[in-house]
Amino acid sequence: MKITNICCIGAGYVGGPTMAVIAKKNPHIKVTIVDINAERIAAWNNKDVSKLPIYEPGLAEIVEETRGKNLFFSTEIDKTIAASEMIFISVNTPTKTYGKGKGMAADLKYVELCARNIAEVATTDKIVVEKSTLPVRTAQAIKSILHNTGSNVKFDILSNPEFLAEGTAVQDLLSPDRVLIGGESEDAIESLAAIYGSWVPQDRILRTNVWSSELSKLTANAFLAQRISSINAISELCEHTEANVNEVAKAIGMDSRIGPKFLNASIGFGGSCFQKDILNLVYIARSYNLNAVADYWEQVIILNDHQKRRFSDNLISTLYNTVSGKKIAMLGWAFKKDTNDTRESAAIYVADHLLNEQANIAVYDPKVNSEKVQADLNYLNTRSDEENKDLVKYYDDPYEVSKDAHAIAIMTEWDEFKTYDWQRIYEQMKKPAFIFDGRNILNKKEMTKIGFEYSSIGQ
Ligand code: NAD
Ligand code: UGA
Repeated sequence: MKITNICCIGAGYVGGPTMAVIAKKNPHIKVTIVDINAERIAAWNNKDVSKLPIYEPGLAEIVEETRGKNLFFSTEIDKTIAASEMIFISVNTPTKTYGKGKGMAADLKYVELCARNIAEVATTDKIVVEKSTLPVRTAQAIKSILHNTGSNVKFDILSNPEFLAEGTAVQDLLSPDRVLIGGESEDAIESLAAIYGSWVPQDRILRTNVWSSELSKLTANAFLAQRISSINAISELCEHTEANVNEVAKAIGMDSRIGPKFLNASIGFGGSCFQKDILNLVYIARSYNLNAVADYWEQVIILNDHQKRRFSDNLISTLYNTVSGKKIAMLGWAFKKDTNDTRESAAIYVADHLLNEQANIAVYDPKVNSEKVQADLNYLNTRSDEENKDLVKYYDDPYEVSKDAHAIAIMTEWDEFKTYDWQRIYEQMKKPAFIFDGRNILNKKEMTKIGFEYSSIGQ
């Protein structure tokens, strides 16, 4: 099918950057991103591209170049679906918070709503592309909804999972390791392959059946997260044996069979997807009674929770077993550097634990604002909004946040943290001045020389 109009439902961290790059590389195709969230669409349409709802290096430039030419952001969902030959579903698929599968299975209500919406308004043939991360065999449900409309419209369903990582989304999209397209109809597969073919070499565009494509996405995230839990497990052993986890990671990473990536020990992985996708994988395995498989992958999450807890326990015990009334400065709130996304950030859980011990939390993050920090803590429902407001203060300045602090906890690996005047920070803190480096980004020797009591992960 010749594609001249694309609709993407969902203007989020995936829909926004992915469609911006597709539009940039396919100037002959009109790409419209639609969303039910009018505020988000308004932010995407903000004249000042520094105020887009998502921060990703390089994204503002691409939006500026394409917006209003062949990239559009709109709340007119029905009209855009009707006018497009290809529709991407790129909506959120969070873990269910109710009913069967609560806390484990993916909540597919948003995806189903999209399928029903498409079924209702389509009057011409459509290629429907699953861009959201979905449990294996979801395409079956979408197909069933679309094929039972009673109309003569022909729908082809493709799975095209997204592998971009936040903070490097634009770079990942411009030169992906691979693009994966799962489907039945060769014509539909080739229509999508041609769009990516504008910039991705053909040998990097994999064609598979729908189920392999859906399952490959969950598997890729599970393998990546598993590496982090593996190195984090070793980090705890290092702390008891005087081995250094950075040295161990380097030594094993130079084995070409293991490779060096995703071996940074940390406070634990965060982000909207690793935990949700593994929980979903575990749920699917259990639903087939594959309990050994489910237990195996569940351990990745158990270890990650342990790592977050271990970090705050260590902080409390080092501060003479109490943080009550003490100012703990948190540098970083985002789940990783170069993003304003805080979903499932380890910082939220560490802060919550310290707040239970009556600490006064002070936060600074270069891209996350105070409203977000408050909302993240309120979402946990551990305390009232007033209590959180009372105990958690937000600062716009890294030197102010650390003034009179008993300890600094580094939660995100922002590059700017390495460039601070640590002597100045030391002088204005309470003594002894503690640093808990949850990202291993500072130099232990230098910090100790200044006078800090410095501890990091796995050293
Ligand atoms: P997001 O929450 O940032 O964006 C989803 C958007 O969909 C929201 O703006 C929401 O308002 C909109 N939406 C929901 N239901 C809608 C409907 N019925 N009609 C119109 N709009 C609707 O989510 P995200 O981070 O972009 O993730 C989307 C999917 O992509 C998820 O399945 C996720 O697992 C997957 N994924 C995410 C990443 C990532 O880095 N964030 C990477 C790869 C894959
Ligand atoms: C991850 C995957 O890397 C993407 O391929 C995938 O598309 C995406 O999930 C998704 O499906 O949402 P993302 O979560 O954006 O991307 O970022 P990552 O770079 O994978 O980092 C995830 C978390 O792991 C972060 O908290 C990061 O700090 C942590 N991490 C990463 C470590 O603790 N150690 C490492 O060595 C690497």
